[in-house]
Amino acid sequence: MNRIVAILGGTGSQGFGLALRWLKAGEYVIIGSRSREKAQAKADEARRILGNGVRVEGCTNSEAADKADIIVLTVPFDAQLSIIRRIAPYLSQGKILVDVTVPLASIIGGDPWRILYPWDGSAAEQAARYIPKGVRIVSAFHTIGSSILYDLDREVDCDVLICGDDVAAKRIVAELAEEIPGVRAIDCGPLENSRLTESLASLMIYLCRLYNVKAVGVRITGIRNLRSI
Ligand SMILES: NC(=O)c1ccc[n+]([C@@H]2O[C@H](COP(=O)([O-])OP(=O)(O)OC[C@H]3O[C@@H](n4cnc5c(N)ncnc54)[C@H](OP(=O)(O)O)[C@@H]3O)[C@@H](O)[C@H]2O)c1
Repeated sequence: MNRIVAILGGTGSQGFGLALRWLKAGEYVIIGSRSREKAQAKADEARRILGNGVRVEGCTNSEAADKADIIVLTVPFDAQLSIIRRIAPYLSQGKILVDVTVPLASIIGGDPWRILYPWDGSAAEQAARYIPKGVRIVSAFHTIGSSILYDLDREVDCDVLICGDDVAAKRIVAELAEEIPGVRAIDCGPLENSRLTESLASLMIYLCRLYNVKAVGVRITGIRNLRSI
């Protein structure tokens, strides 16, 4: 695999969990951060966990976006647009931006099991408005919690729900998702359906609290002949 996957905000829970899973699968991963030192420390941590053979580096979010083919955005909702504006000069045509952002009400002091409704309909549609033309945006990984990702020896009992308007880009993201053992990638249609998949994440937080568990997963059943994207 010669592609490079950058995870912006990859020092955080969700981003680092995805980084570990993809490194384990053999991907070249760049961990992005506002601080180069923090990113490099996380890259060192990944090497400690997975061994020195993994292909990982840490750098600033802009450098990571510049070098990568696939850029995965894993930051809190209130940081999403400032990062997109910052990395926009590095988002050349054809690159894929994978938005994992959930607009949780906790960013304005509300409960994390409540969701905000951005003017554009969803966090991913908001991102789509601000990225340069020709960048392909896909929304995914909202319904897979970081604690599940960190449990590296366990298969993940969870589907990854993928929304986007560019089928080829969705196919590439589905491939990345299915590198995580146990995961099925489900094509959930156009980017606007991200309104639904992002909302599910807040429901999942509610369920964890209600049933006092660390993580819950989502499986879509009943689709015969599930076609790959
Ligand atoms: N955690 C989960 O299980 C989970 C599951 C599904 C979806 N999500 C979504 O994924 C996103 C990331 O979640 P998370 O739990 O990983 O969040 P997090 O740990 O709170 O933050 C992730 C990273 O974002 C960067 N960041 C924080 N504030 C920022 C700011 N104001 N400007 C720029 N960068 C900032 C930080 O990186 P640096 O300080 O290194 O720059 C931080 O390490 C969120 O939108 C969340 O809703 C999370």
